[in-house]
Amino acid sequence: MRMTVIGTGYVGVVHAATMADLGHEVLGVDIDEDRIAALADGTPPVYEPGLQDLLQRTLASGRLRFTCDMSEVAGFAPVHFVCVGTPQMPGSKSADLRSVEAVVDGLAPHLHPGDLIVGKSTVPVGTAVRLAERLRTRAPGAGIAWNPEFLREGFAVRDSASPERIVVGVSSAHGESVLRRIYAPMLRAGVPFFRTDPNTAELVKVASNSFLATKISFINAMAEVCDAVGADVVTLAEAVGADSRIGPRFLQPGLGFGGSCFPKDIRGFMARAEELGVGGAVSFLQEVDEINTRQRVRTVDLATRLVGGDFAGLNVAVLGAAFKPDSDDVRDSPALAVADALQRKGARVRVHDPEALDNARAAVPTLQYTLDVPKACEEADLVLHLTAWPEYQAIDPVALALLVREPVVLDARNALDAQLWRESGWSVHAPGRPQPQE
Ligand code: UGA
Repeated sequence: MRMTVIGTGYVGVVHAATMADLGHEVLGVDIDEDRIAALADGTPPVYEPGLQDLLQRTLASGRLRFTCDMSEVAGFAPVHFVCVGTPQMPGSKSADLRSVEAVVDGLAPHLHPGDLIVGKSTVPVGTAVRLAERLRTRAPGAGIAWNPEFLREGFAVRDSASPERIVVGVSSAHGESVLRRIYAPMLRAGVPFFRTDPNTAELVKVASNSFLATKISFINAMAEVCDAVGADVVTLAEAVGADSRIGPRFLQPGLGFGGSCFPKDIRGFMARAEELGVGGAVSFLQEVDEINTRQRVRTVDLATRLVGGDFAGLNVAVLGAAFKPDSDDVRDSPALAVADALQRKGARVRVHDPEALDNARAAVPTLQYTLDVPKACEEADLVLHLTAWPEYQAIDPVALALLVREPVVLDARNALDAQLWRESGWSVHAPGRPQPQE
């Protein structure tokens, strides 16, 4: 089938390349000329394992092409996926829908009866219904469906090719049949397909992200209680997660969530629920948000205690800047927020990250950055482990101890082997974990 994918951010690029890999003819569209030129050359705009290979393979197949020319779009295909960003609006909890609306309004005059716009962007519930109303007069006979995307950064290629479910919110049998044809190879492979109305589809997305964010904040709240009584949140999480009704995933205690999705999605959900008169139903998300933000403050407070209350003249090494491993994304990154806060308290902060340094430097230019772990830790009075890149778990703590001024590590992700580091001469601290009894 032929289709366009409008917006070539994370979701758009991965979706466009995955669709071409399934055998479809795909035109990727964006207003950013530099990005389109790089994509046409096979260079993805983000670091994402496997994406460059997939992109180059599908470009070479001739089934994937990129353009900035919106006038090509409507003539190219009868199906248009909308993958533009819906960031949090400055000064408000609500999502900014201007890009989505601009795409739909721009497409409308060129659409033919039977054409389908398929939204993938995360939007407040009710958006598709409202956009369909706008289309009714501007593009009679064209339809709109919502098909939320659930891919995770770091696993985007895999998640897109083998999703755990496909959710389509449609208001016509035609919409359903178009989407069933597009995803046919995945449906044949047994991927569950949920056909529902657009409101429910939009809600599935924010409900999923809200649940996951709640799970993370729940275990971080337990870490706070553990700290108060000297209990161990890591063992607690393992034991609680062993109940198959609860499950161990997203129960990793630590510095909390960041990125471009969870924080803005739970805030946008609260704002939308307020508008709908059911704010009370999701007011617990305010607590989830606050628990999450508090983990950054707790980490800065613990670091301050570990250096005796004053950072003047002290070197702090920060391992990790990305909001999570296998990503170069620093949007609302807890790691970068903590590094910045420590610098503001007077520390000389050197930050290491294997992939996110360019983005980190652009976001917080005043920090020192290095691509070399030993260099970050040289003469450090405190080492903070803030993003759980696997390579940090492979660090030799004996060798690192020789480089630092004080062998003190704050493992805010609870991911280092505390026993090994202690045996190597380190004082190890982590949220929700007691110090070993002498
Ligand atoms: C999340 C969802 O997992 C995807 O399903 C969804 O499609 C995406 O948002 C989106 O809405 O676009 P993503 O933000 O890429 O994906 O990353 P996650 O792997 O979900 O991690 C989110 C944050 O939670 C990270 O900062 C991570 O470090 C943190 N986290 C995760 C924890 O602090 N503890 C955990 O146990 C798990």
